[in-house]
Amino acid sequence: MNREDREKLTQIGAQFCIPGRFQDGHRIKIGHINETFAATYDDGGRPFRVIHQTINTQVFREPVGLMSNVVRVTEHLRRKLQAQGVDQLDRRALQVIPTREGPPYHVDASGRYWRTFVFVDDVRSYDAVESPRQAYQAGHAFGQFQSLLSDLPAGELATTIPDFHHTPKRFERLLQAIESDEFHRCDLARQEIDFALGMKSLVSALVDAEARGEVPVRVTHNDTKFNNVMLDGHTGEAMCVVDLDTVMPGLVLYDFGDMVRTTTSRTAEDEQFLERVELELPMFEALVRGYLEATRSFLMPAERRLLVLSGKLITFTIGIRFLTDYLEGDAYFRIHREQHNLDRCRKQFKLIASMNEREEAMQEAVARFS
Ligand SMILES: Nc1ncnc2c1ncn2[C@@H]1O[C@H](COP(=O)(O)OP(=O)(O)O)[C@@H](O)[C@H]1O
Ligand SMILES: [Mg+2]
Repeated sequence: MNREDREKLTQIGAQFCIPGRFQDGHRIKIGHINETFAATYDDGGRPFRVIHQTINTQVFREPVGLMSNVVRVTEHLRRKLQAQGVDQLDRRALQVIPTREGPPYHVDASGRYWRTFVFVDDVRSYDAVESPRQAYQAGHAFGQFQSLLSDLPAGELATTIPDFHHTPKRFERLLQAIESDEFHRCDLARQEIDFALGMKSLVSALVDAEARGEVPVRVTHNDTKFNNVMLDGHTGEAMCVVDLDTVMPGLVLYDFGDMVRTTTSRTAEDEQFLERVELELPMFEALVRGYLEATRSFLMPAERRLLVLSGKLITFTIGIRFLTDYLEGDAYFRIHREQHNLDRCRKQFKLIASMNEREEAMQEAVARFS
């Protein structure tokens, strides 16, 4: 690593209760959202590894509430896993390392928020799912995450991003973007706009179910993309889930829906060859089997009934967010080519069309593994 990064990391690391002396570090990735570094400390001859990560305060405007959620949740997970007597406890739930002053975050001279986790050894994540076995692991890992947290009252967590999954509000915003057509792109996206408008009746399905009290608000992850599951480097078993910034009160259906979106097709989020994009039934079956096995102790029939719909609805919600951003001139999602957001939208909508075709088989799979 260059001298500047090294100095920065040494300086940041010194703020946290890390045993030993700073030895080395490297940048893991500049994520969509966070900047992540790994660092190794020499703890009396033994290596101690940590993750230092910034919080994107443009997106997460309540970093203090966010970190208090993360601490609450990781401590709860650890206590529960410990009581179950699992092996390799340190690899099965993230652990926050507090600062020497106490708080679980450090604000640097330029106002950036940093936090530190114990490094989880010998795990890796994948951007796209490769096999039903992996899909099973993802369903099981996020299901277990929800299950372990099912006795933590949702009201004890801060809602760090209000209306995060509020599809009707997202839809409203799309209608406004179509109406103003500031960048004169509506013509180029006519098919996608028509598809979106045709789904209007689905838009409020989950918020209505919540408002009617049919499905409860629980502690949920809210960013259940496949690449947030860490799989053991040798066995492929899911060890833990990461990216806890969006942990807050929510519906388990939002979590499951985003798993369906990201873990049933071996294609990237912005796949351009749409003929490759489909809901692959063996992936879905494995995903739902893993999820239902892990959530058996708490999931209610009303929640189970909405699982298939949630896949469609979350894929739709993300799809219209990409479409809206395209119409609004690509202000939110970073693009790497022209029409990138339109491509992303098309991928989501193609996946929905495929779900429509396979709906019966998907329902049948839910029934089979329930
Ligand atoms: N505690 C950890 N141990 C090992 N690797 C980690 C840990 N936390 C994060 N990572 C790695 O850093 C990557 C980015 O972290 P993540 O929290 O998912 O942020 P982003 O918002 O950038 O996706 C993860 O995909 C994972 O590879
Ligand atoms: Mg991530």
